[in-house]
Amino acid sequence: TWTTAAFVEQATREIRAKVGDKRVLLALSGGVDSSTLAFLLHQAIGDKLTCMFIDQGFMRKLEPERLIKLFHEQFHIPVQYVNARDRFLAAIAGVTDPEEKRKRIGHEFISVFEEESKRLGPFDYLAQGTLYPDVIESADTNVDPKTGDRVAVKIKSHHNVGGLPKDLRFKLVEPLRKLFKDEVRRVGTSIGLPDEIIKRHPFPGPGLAIRILGEVTEERLDILRDADLIVRQEINRNGVYNDFWQAFAVLLPIRSVGVMGDQRTYAYPIVLRFVSSEDGMTADWSRAPYDLLETISNRIVNEVKGVNRVVYDITSKPPGTIEWE
Ligand code: XMP
Repeated sequence: TWTTAAFVEQATREIRAKVGDKRVLLALSGGVDSSTLAFLLHQAIGDKLTCMFIDQGFMRKLEPERLIKLFHEQFHIPVQYVNARDRFLAAIAGVTDPEEKRKRIGHEFISVFEEESKRLGPFDYLAQGTLYPDVIESADTNVDPKTGDRVAVKIKSHHNVGGLPKDLRFKLVEPLRKLFKDEVRRVGTSIGLPDEIIKRHPFPGPGLAIRILGEVTEERLDILRDADLIVRQEINRNGVYNDFWQAFAVLLPIRSVGVMGDQRTYAYPIVLRFVSSEDGMTADWSRAPYDLLETISNRIVNEVKGVNRVVYDITSKPPGTIEWE
């Protein structure tokens, strides 16, 4: 029978047998796959592993800090933190088309990844959190005909974006390739990953940049981060985080009239998008409790400067998508 302990032991042995004393690079995303992967590799090869975290500036409030703290303090795994916030913001300055935004973020990610892996390298292997369903799809990897090694063609966290340049096609080490997502979660739990990672809602690679419709600016990012944090706080306070597949805020680049005290306001609306789903392919809008929605709305309008209205998305998928871009 399959147990997490047996898996961890076998994975550790296999990693050692495969990479020996060669150096491995891992791009941490903050999700359960890359976090579990980091733990396994660190246990197997110690400082031959380099964990890199590229901060695009599009994560949720406090998430980058919490991730790095967790790795340092709980797991004693050093993380190379790459602050690329300004670069990513510059890369999408003035861009309003959703696909163009994704494309530029993806290209910027590859550029930063390339520069940083040269600066920190050289590396022989790239660790990827490929899961069994990805292996079956298999479109994102090639096999080297001479050695039979699977080599990296794309970066998993940005699988919807262009390929890696030739000189970055590291050999892959993929210890999770026989696992399904629920098995990864079990392994993650057994090695002490906190629920905030294990049960984290899916979060898109381009992050908050595709939850600000139209142009992404520093000001809009600050507003959305604050509104999004309130959503998360209230959902957690009510103990309903796991009732949703995803529950998040979207910022619309328009303004509407409101009134605050005796002042007229003219500010952005925030959309609340709460859905239930099995796999993200289809989704129902969630019948969230009115009290919860009321508290979130009041807090956002009162606490987040630049927002004067909160609306709730009651569209299922299809025909709507989960994200707004
Ligand atoms: P949609 O909006 O297509 O989303 O209904 C389905 C699921 O995919 C996630 N999503 C993304 N994930 N990069 C990602 O890594 C992306 O560009 C992206 N767009 C959507 C979305 O959050 C939902 O879970």
